[in-house]
This record gives sequence, structure tokens and C-alpha cells, in this order.
Amino acid sequence: MDPVTNPFSPGAGAPPPELVGREEILERAEILLRRVRQGRSAKSILLTGLRGVGKTVLLNEIKRRATADGYHSILVETPEQAGLLPHLTPQVRGLLLELDRGAGVSARVRRALGVLKSFASAVRVGYSGLEVSLDFEPEVGVADSGDLENDLAGLFVAVAEAAKDRGTAVSLLIDELQYISELELRSLTMAMHRLAQDQLPFVLVGAGLPTLPGLAGRARSYAERLFDFPTIGALSREEAARAIEGPMVGAGVAVARPALDEIFDKTQGYPYFLQEWTYQTWNRAEGSPITLSAVLEASPIVRRRLDEGFFRVRFDRLTRGERRYLRAMADVPPAERTTGRVADILGFKVTSMGPTRANLISKGMVYSPEHGHLDFTVPLFDDFMKRMMPTL
Ligand SMILES: Nc1ncnc2c1ncn2[C@@H]1O[C@H](COP(=O)(O)OP(=O)(O)OP(=O)(O)O)[C@@H](O)[C@H]1O
Ligand SMILES: [Mg+2]
Repeated sequence: MDPVTNPFSPGAGAPPPELVGREEILERAEILLRRVRQGRSAKSILLTGLRGVGKTVLLNEIKRRATADGYHSILVETPEQAGLLPHLTPQVRGLLLELDRGAGVSARVRRALGVLKSFASAVRVGYSGLEVSLDFEPEVGVADSGDLENDLAGLFVAVAEAAKDRGTAVSLLIDELQYISELELRSLTMAMHRLAQDQLPFVLVGAGLPTLPGLAGRARSYAERLFDFPTIGALSREEAARAIEGPMVGAGVAVARPALDEIFDKTQGYPYFLQEWTYQTWNRAEGSPITLSAVLEASPIVRRRLDEGFFRVRFDRLTRGERRYLRAMADVPPAERTTGRVADILGFKVTSMGPTRANLISKGMVYSPEHGHLDFTVPLFDDFMKRMMPTL
């Protein structure tokens, strides 16, 4: 069928033609937004899930809803190495300048701009490229101690007060939060703590890999009282069927049940894979209805595309030792994937494998679902490792 009218959207952050199975989490986000806007307390939401489950799509949707609710929003992605602040401060500047353009002059907004100026020059040390050009006098004595934990809280409070003065609220959306440094995470937690105490209209919604709750807990003992960590997972068989059939029906195309079942079995309901499989199946299909044979024809093409793209880019970033570690993990069934079993297969002591494991965790390839256990952050990566390295 015509690829030009193909409704499916495989790709990072690409909005799916139908956002299925996320009603509950979106409802929670709505409640959070409404409560905070009214000066009521609510825990921030930090979405966690494996690669390609739709976290970025959700953040974008929550941002859209926040804007519709009258929020001013900032959406940033944490870079893998450089630190979050160099990305955050220019956006805070943009937001404050937007608030400054409102009717009349707001002393609170002007003050927040001064605080931002102080903040940026105080924390510049240790960050490259953290310059904020502003024609405002720095606000001396606020957010300028050079101690990030206090200064970020000072900045956020000033920003939230400025927003409140303008009758609006701020939503901060942070993607790839697992890459945040420990100091930045501690500071972010502290800042959210201050905002909650002062009941200021400022919400945080984050997204990251399942390593995130552990990081947050280590950063601050009260993190679990400030943040909820809902898990975003694969779609169920019925949800997957809806995600495929909805857009097809919208385009006047029917899908046979065995075709739906085959896509579910191949993708296990993981949203990114589902979009890829359905996208390629559409392109291969002769016409309506889409049958099992169209899916079977598309499958080797999709597998090759994934192996050469989605999986491959991650594999290429690994050292030889890290690849062997992942290959050994792939030999162990998920429920039994312990650090001990993996070390046994590789013929090493658990302790000597510690650095390799730590590197895989910081590269976002592996996480620990419970103490001593390990799993892949990329769905179906175990099968890929076996294809790439048939033997250890
Ligand atoms: N609820 C959904 N139903 C169907 N498809 C979805 C759904 N959510 C996301 N997708 C699709 O899944 C793909 C991945 O989405 P997204 O990039 O948001 O995932 P992610 O969790 O942010 O991945 P990563 O961890 O790699 O950043 C996109 O192609 C998107 O269209
Ligand atoms: Mg993402």
C-alpha cells in the first residue's frame, strides 16, 4: 500500500497515530497539574520504563496538556555526559522573558531574572558554556552561594513566585533523567522539596530508564515522599490490537486477527517495535484486508532494520568486555538473571565483574530490577545479542 499515506510512526518521540493504554497515567498527570495550579500539594511524576515504550511521547503529551491548562512549560533532555544545567538555564531565561512580556511590569518577574543572573554566574564554575546574557542586575544574596543544592532551590522558588504573580504556573519536563549527575539530582530533589513546602505552582514531570528510582533514593532519603515512579510498560494484546487497528480503520483498511496476533507475538507489545512492524507491514501489503502473509513478508525486513539501526547503535558503543557480559546475560532466563550467574558463565568472581556491570548501568544498557538481579533496558536485546554473537 502507499507508503506516503502510511499512518504509523516508528521513531524516537514520534507521536503514534493512536496513543493507546496510557489513559491512567495521563489522568494522574492531569490531576497533578490541576492540584499544583491551585496551590495544593502533589507528588511529582517520574515516568520509568525501558527503551522505546513511549516515555518521550508521554512527556510531550503532558506538556501539551499543561499548556492547555495555562502552564508555561520547559522541556529538556538530559545529555549523557555534559550535565543538565547548561540546557536548563537558557530555557528558564526564555520562560522568564515570556513572563516579562505580560501586561504591566511585575517586580517578581524582574527579581527572578536577577536571581537567574546570579545563579548562572555562581554555578558557572564546573560547567562549560553556562552563560546567561541578560540586561538585568543580579539579585545579590539569592541563588549565588555557589552551592548548587541551595542555589537551584532559590532559582526555582523565584521562578515559581514570578509565575504565580502572573497568574500562571510552571511545568518542568525532563527527559532521559537517568543521565543526571548525582549532585544535580540532589539539587533537583531539594528544589522540589522547597517548592512543595511553599506550595508554589511549579511541577516536575520526568522520564527515564528503570535505574531512576534507585538513583533518586540514593540522592535524598525523602525522594520517595516527593516523587511517584509509575512504570510505563509494553501494551497488552488487546491494547496492541487497538494501536494497530485504530489507525488502519481510520484509513479504511481492515486487519485480519492472525495478522494482529503475529505482530503482537513478534513485538511483545513494545510500542516502538509495534510501530516498526506495522509500518513495514502496511508498505508490503497488497491492500485491505491486511493478512498474516503480509506480516510474515515484512518480518525479516523489520528485523534487519532493527538489527542495523535501533539495536546496532547501542551495541557499537560497548567495549569487548561489555559485549561479552551482555552476551552471558542473554544465556540466562530473565527470572534467574543474577550477577552471580552471569559471573559464573564468564568464569570470573562477581566482585571482579563489578566495574563492567557499573559501566553498563551508567551507559543505560542494564538495570537492576531487584538487589543482585539484572536486566536489559532495551526490550528484546537478549535475542539480538545471540544473533550478533552466536557464541561467547
Ligand atoms: N501508547 C502507544 N501506543 C502505540 N505506539 C506508541 C505508544 N507510545 C509510543 N509509541 C510509539 O513508540 C515509539 C517510541 O516512543 P518514545 O520515543 O516516546 O519512547 P521512549 O520510551 O521515549 O524511548 P527511549 O527510552 O528510547 O527514549 C514511537 O514510535 C511512538 O510512536
Ligand atoms: Mg525517549
